[in-house]
Amino acid sequence: MQNLINDTFIRTLLKQPVTRTPIWMMRQAGRYLPEYRRVREKAGSFMNLCTSPELACEVTLQPLERYRFDAAILFSDILTIPDAMGLGLTFTEGEGPKFDKPITRAEDIHQLVIPDPEVELRYVIDAVRLIRRELNGRVPLIGFSGSPWTLATYMVEGGSSKSFSKVKALMYEQPQLMHELLDKLTQSVASYLNAQIAAGAQAVMVFDTWGGILSTDDYLEFSLRYAQKVRALLNTQQDGQQIPTILFSKGGGLWLEEMAASGYDALGLDWQTDIHTARQRVGASVALQGNLDPAVLYAKPEVIAEKVQNILRGFGQGSGHVFNLGHGIMPDMNPEHVAAMVEAVHTFSPQYHL
Ligand code: CP3
Repeated sequence: MQNLINDTFIRTLLKQPVTRTPIWMMRQAGRYLPEYRRVREKAGSFMNLCTSPELACEVTLQPLERYRFDAAILFSDILTIPDAMGLGLTFTEGEGPKFDKPITRAEDIHQLVIPDPEVELRYVIDAVRLIRRELNGRVPLIGFSGSPWTLATYMVEGGSSKSFSKVKALMYEQPQLMHELLDKLTQSVASYLNAQIAAGAQAVMVFDTWGGILSTDDYLEFSLRYAQKVRALLNTQQDGQQIPTILFSKGGGLWLEEMAASGYDALGLDWQTDIHTARQRVGASVALQGNLDPAVLYAKPEVIAEKVQNILRGFGQGSGHVFNLGHGIMPDMNPEHVAAMVEAVHTFSPQYHL
């Protein structure tokens, strides 16, 4: 398959037989690694790191040198799309992302232009091409985007938020305007992911980090509906290969049946969702990815190994499980503890694939 030396991740997403459970980790290239911090310092800022294909490629590959991961994930950020739409993204130390020009009026939404990924987001697409070349088939490369809903929350709030009051006010006061914004983001996300696929991404993941802050009705109308539209617009056949798709709605455990019917090949699970029950609920329709609580990595290696085994046992026999954390790794984590997790998956998962 696609001349991949290790295709365990792709086969698992497509529910084909494998000999062990593949593993990668959300935010695997990040601040918990001293070698990442060195490159990040050299770059001067997080955005400089993202916009330099050579540096983005370097940090993408770093975790693969240390750990036996089964996939690489493009080093970038979900907020590149709003930045390309002209909102002016900056990351301030310790404060997270900020937009100079957040969306405050109807006019701001009417005027938004869908970016051309080969122009405004060229640095990302160049990074994908470079990473694919440097990986040389070792493991597959995952491309990604934020979901339309999650991107909209940042664009309206102007950055991270606790209450989401601005974006919810817009949704309830002027739902038609919210739909206009989500429509434009859907077009942008689909063309961005299609450009990543054309450049060499071998699987794609949609991060719906803030789907879980919505009521059930609103999740279906404002989040899942647009994630589903994105999926329908994706070119999932490339050079004769199927490009598997993953949808991760944090807090989405309540809506697994609806998510499983949305067209994605796999669902990402956060750590609050029980993987055994999740598998029973979605049946054979989709693969599952997750879902160790990232805070488990604060524990001793023996405890980590035990918690890993609980998840492997919870999913049970057969293909269709990609091991991962239930959300991104914390920046203060001990890299040795990540090794304990990876080794536990390599040691204890083959018995589930006999
Ligand atoms: O997973 C990976 O290794 C790939 C790289 C990746 C990053 N961000 C790197 C990053 C991915 C897939 C993302 C996605 C992302 N970005 C999401 C969705 C995933 C999730 O966590 O739910 C979100 C919500 C963002 C927005 C974002 N980017 C925030 C809120 C922050 C600040 C966080 C903080 O603790 O400061 C970022 C910055 C960011 N993105 C960092 C990294 C490694 C840290 C910045 C730094 O190195 O200074």
